[in-house]
Amino acid sequence: MRIRIAPSILNADFGRLADQVRLLEQGGADALHLDIMDGHFVPNLTFGPPVVAALRQATNLPFDVHLMVQQPDNLLESFAAAGSSSITVHAEACPHLHRTIEAVKALGLEAGVALNPATPLSAVEYVLDRVDLVLVMTVNPGWGGQGFIPGMFGKIKTLRSMIDASGQRTALQVDGGIYLANVGAVVAAGVDYLVIGSALFKSGDPVEALEEYRQLIGQDCHDHCGGHR
Ligand code: DX5
Ligand code: ZN
Repeated sequence: MRIRIAPSILNADFGRLADQVRLLEQGGADALHLDIMDGHFVPNLTFGPPVVAALRQATNLPFDVHLMVQQPDNLLESFAAAGSSSITVHAEACPHLHRTIEAVKALGLEAGVALNPATPLSAVEYVLDRVDLVLVMTVNPGWGGQGFIPGMFGKIKTLRSMIDASGQRTALQVDGGIYLANVGAVVAAGVDYLVIGSALFKSGDPVEALEEYRQLIGQDCHDHCGGHR
């Protein structure tokens, strides 16, 4: 299966966001990861549907929307209308997670569930057959540019086994602290969908940086992750 890369624009130049997004599309990004933060579920506050709708006019890339908000159920329709392709909610913010996932799918979008580093995989055990992706947070959410939490390798490997045993085509996504130094090990652990943020933008040339990751991981998961596919 092809390893997908979705740049996170959290650390992009917000003064010229549409240009940066167009560059990433030309540079071969598979999707755009949009970090929506409400200042409550996480301490940081970013942007909402109006910015998503504006970016929708600038690119054809799928929008992988990551809702780091306290009440995602209240926001699903507005982010769907703004042009989201998938919406990922945090299990920790959804007392009725199965119902929230069904609500995302009823809007015609792909559904994802994100797990904070301390949240056990059991949180997705009974919805694995209903989601298109599971996002393993490899940092504590709220900011870009943090360090990868090493303990997440074990979580990734266990989730990989869970997904493979289920026979589902659920994507295993990671988000936070992905750098050239660790991306090979992350892919080898069974990840097939990478969110990369500050590592792409700190170089000043996100397209060149994206190409470096593409070269390192190759096109196909089979090359680097022990043929688990
Ligand atoms: C953090 C966000 C991540 C973050 C990734 O809460 O969910 O998407 O922007 O950024 P880096 O790659 O800089 O850790
Ligand atoms: Zn994110």
